Amino acid sequence: MELNFKRLRKYRANNALIDIFCDVVLNPKDFVQPVFIIEGSGLKQEIPNFPDVYRYSIDEAIKFMSNCASFGIKMFALFPVLDESLKNDMGSEALNSNGLMYRAIKEIKNALPDLILMADVALDPYTSHGHDGVLQENGYLDNDRTIAILAKYSVLLAEAGADCVSPSDMMDGRIAYINTALEEHGHVNTLVAAYSTKFNSSLYGPFRNAVKSNQSGYLDKSSYQINPGNLFEAELELFEDVQEAADILIVKPASIYLDIIVKASEYKVPVFAYHVSGEYSMLKLAAKEGIVSSYDAILKETMTAIKRAGAKCIITYAALDIAKLLNK
Ligand code: PBG
Repeated sequence: MELNFKRLRKYRANNALIDIFCDVVLNPKDFVQPVFIIEGSGLKQEIPNFPDVYRYSIDEAIKFMSNCASFGIKMFALFPVLDESLKNDMGSEALNSNGLMYRAIKEIKNALPDLILMADVALDPYTSHGHDGVLQENGYLDNDRTIAILAKYSVLLAEAGADCVSPSDMMDGRIAYINTALEEHGHVNTLVAAYSTKFNSSLYGPFRNAVKSNQSGYLDKSSYQINPGNLFEAELELFEDVQEAADILIVKPASIYLDIIVKASEYKVPVFAYHVSGEYSMLKLAAKEGIVSSYDAILKETMTAIKRAGAKCIITYAALDIAKLLNK
């Protein structure tokens, strides 16, 4: 008898074989847990449209992060949530050296010195209009004035103890500018994680509820975030950030931008994918509605796909969920 096909089902004949031939294995250290920080103590606040994600006062954040660490998570992305009274059109509270972010970093590092802290660098939590920088009179976001502020902010974050600064603003030239400022101040070991390809997505809603940057409805950031249809522009952004010596390239969102993760991986600079608030919330809601087989299954499948595309680490609100699942 002549066999003219290959029996690929051999790889799937039983669970042990399925396991042996599995390419992509998830590990808790692959996941970065975002944490929203608020002023006060003993606080854990719910967020609209953001299931099971909370804003924490610094003391509660430390408890939450310590719990995450017990399941093998090593890295955290910190975002401040400011009282509206501290916001203005310049976002000037960002440079108040006694501000919430700096105190949070110091206190967390003091309590949990082994955890790696990635501090978000953008002005949207600080501006009254919710944009990522300062606006010109005509409403257009001013690139060069913004990057000068972001560079100062980065240095202060590094001084407070941040291991990594991650500009999420999408201004041009900010990676070079921030790198130069960090060098000038002797912060030679501070990692710079560039949100190189951040798309103008409809998936950021729950995050904007978390930091309250969307007071006037869904913000139009189309003059600085990449048009979802543009691959050439994404490639130019990646190229530029590699030239400007970014240490990490971030692709955001993640699960519907797997092609971009594949492209980013070609640069041999570690790629992180940001599984954003809307992507996360959709999984939670789909599981609740019985649309997917289970939350755990869709979560594992999604994370596996993102890692398979080439992401070294995944920033996700489900980091603790998946770490718990992997510890089972
Ligand atoms: C802006 C910023 C955004 C997110 C993090 N930082 C998006 C935006 O408001 O445009 C979104 C993250 C998420 O949705 O989880 N600096």
